[in-house]
Amino acid sequence: MSVVLESLNPRYAAVQTPLTPAWLQAAITDVLDSIDAMLPRFTTTFPAASAKDGRYPAVEKVDWTEGFWTGLLWLAWEVTGDNKYRQSALGLLDSFAHRLDGQIKVDTHDLGFLYLLSCVNAWKLTGNERARELALRAAELLFRRFDTTAGVIQAWGDLSDPARQGRMIIDCNLNVPLLFWAADETGNRAWRDAARRHLAQASRYLVRNDASTFHTFYLDIHSGQPLRGDTHQGFSDDSCWARGQAWGMLGFALGFNYTGDARLPELSRKLSHYFLNRLPEDYVCYWDLIFSPQDHAFRDTSAAAIAVCGLVELLKQLPLSDTLRPAYGNAISLIMRNLHQYYFAHGEDGLLREGVYNYGRHMGINVPNLWGDYFYFEALVRLSRIWTPYW
Ligand code: GLY
Repeated sequence: MSVVLESLNPRYAAVQTPLTPAWLQAAITDVLDSIDAMLPRFTTTFPAASAKDGRYPAVEKVDWTEGFWTGLLWLAWEVTGDNKYRQSALGLLDSFAHRLDGQIKVDTHDLGFLYLLSCVNAWKLTGNERARELALRAAELLFRRFDTTAGVIQAWGDLSDPARQGRMIIDCNLNVPLLFWAADETGNRAWRDAARRHLAQASRYLVRNDASTFHTFYLDIHSGQPLRGDTHQGFSDDSCWARGQAWGMLGFALGFNYTGDARLPELSRKLSHYFLNRLPEDYVCYWDLIFSPQDHAFRDTSAAAIAVCGLVELLKQLPLSDTLRPAYGNAISLIMRNLHQYYFAHGEDGLLREGVYNYGRHMGINVPNLWGDYFYFEALVRLSRIWTPYW
């Protein structure tokens, strides 16, 4: 059965004031002020995944999130040309090298989040050869997680652990670009084929017929047969985790850039309608799309920022004649204005208040998180200039 395209809520047809260059510049200035306040504390260590009591604790090589800090620094360098950001980002390459040398927390699909935003962009932006070599080593490790029978990249853990084999997750849509990049860089077709097959399996099994998404899905690695979908961070197995939906919106749209497969932007569109149709009055999503206002659930501002990046990427791929372009533009304006006006974290670490990392495991609830910061800045950069994505 095919995936449905919901009609978009008519409230997105109401014309919104566009985000002017002056508005975007002011929002970027706020971002740079916040990065500047954090920079002296994070030149050899990284902000933790989530803030605590208004500050990001300092960590080193422990999580899937360290690349978001270098990503923020590279964005800051791109918009200002100020060498302090570039020097700090390059200085942190040592940490990404040590991580590979010591095989520290690399049994994960998150190698894309980590090495695209630290090494691939350092290579692309400055021609740093060491960064390129590190990124290729990370791509090799990511490729080893690909199971040829199931056709998916195993999300987490030891490759010989039967409980984890054949499990893919929607977040991995943002990690496959590391394999596509590495394949283009080296001509290694196996890497490209793995990335293509993983994206195809993600579109087949992680997306439900109503255009919502499972967070995770298991396939049998002996037969390749689909087993079941479930959640890791969502409210329930059959609900729709807001950030997972946003990873899908952005990741499937990005997949088009590498595959030319026109079904991927259409899938991104379907996920986007499902997402946009479930936003509360202020257009900033709850942490799971199952919630209504009477549930008084927390928001996840990070999912909102990722979704905006997904919509901007989708707009790049749709023809100018697409009749829904104005509605998507309105949605982007509404979300970004409200993030800036009501959720910006003035005077504390982080850019966006009210993110949720993992509600079920009591992690990072209702506080800034590093990927929310990164994608909010990425959204502003995407909207303010012609920009080549790091993905
Ligand atoms: N990729 C993990 C998360 O979105 O929390």
